[in-house]
Amino acid sequence: MSLTDIGLKHGTDKATHHGYTRIYEQYLKALRAKPITILELGWGGHEDPESGGASLAMWREYFPKATVVGIDVEPKANRLEGVDFHQGSQADPEFLKGLHDRYGDFDVIIDDASHVSSLTIRAFEILYPMLRPGGLYVCEDTHGAYHSHWYGAHEANPDPDRPRSNGQPTMMQFFRRLADEVNYHGPSDRELFPKRYWLGYSLESVHFYYNLTVIRKAE
Ligand SMILES: C[S@@+](CC[C@H](N)C(=O)[O-])C[C@H]1O[C@@H](n2cnc3c(N)ncnc32)[C@H](O)[C@@H]1O
Repeated sequence: MSLTDIGLKHGTDKATHHGYTRIYEQYLKALRAKPITILELGWGGHEDPESGGASLAMWREYFPKATVVGIDVEPKANRLEGVDFHQGSQADPEFLKGLHDRYGDFDVIIDDASHVSSLTIRAFEILYPMLRPGGLYVCEDTHGAYHSHWYGAHEANPDPDRPRSNGQPTMMQFFRRLADEVNYHGPSDRELFPKRYWLGYSLESVHFYYNLTVIRKAE
């Protein structure tokens, strides 16, 4: 079965109106039979402890040999066989370090949690070093960067060029900035470029889709 068919079976909106599974499969099919470790931020269901888990069930079925880990800031009672759940925030460095200590480097990290710019950027800053070389970091629902009517001017901004009201970048400004990071300097001209402009992330590529950003770490 395709990832979209499995997603529809488990009822995740990644396979319906978001249309993410079609894009995910292009990146993930090569890993399908491998014993990878996949971490998804955001179990789903928000405050309802009996709700959510649809995408985790999809990953469990799509990757038969994988270690599948889901987190949510809310407590969850609807556990899934073969899926590890941990309660904690996507922006809590101690919590995330504990996951890394337990599972080692992740092959795939998916952020489908708060969709709030500050937390999304913080999660990336903490987790990207915990991604294995060649691994994928995917952020969903990046349109949240523009939705100040939901998140407030402190977290979002409809103007793609203006920072948030606290002067910090929106998540899309941050991810767009990573495109510079991919191209910043060539191997022979490093010394020509001021180091202060290099963020220090090891990046193979940054791909933008409708509401979805896919980042591959350099080998
Ligand atoms: C869109 S739902 C996830 C849906 C699920 N991944 C799926 O596709 O079926 C987002 C979840 O993120 C959780 N969340 C919100 N803020 C969070 C945070 N700071 N850290 C971790 N999870 C958070 C919410 O409680 C909610 O359950």
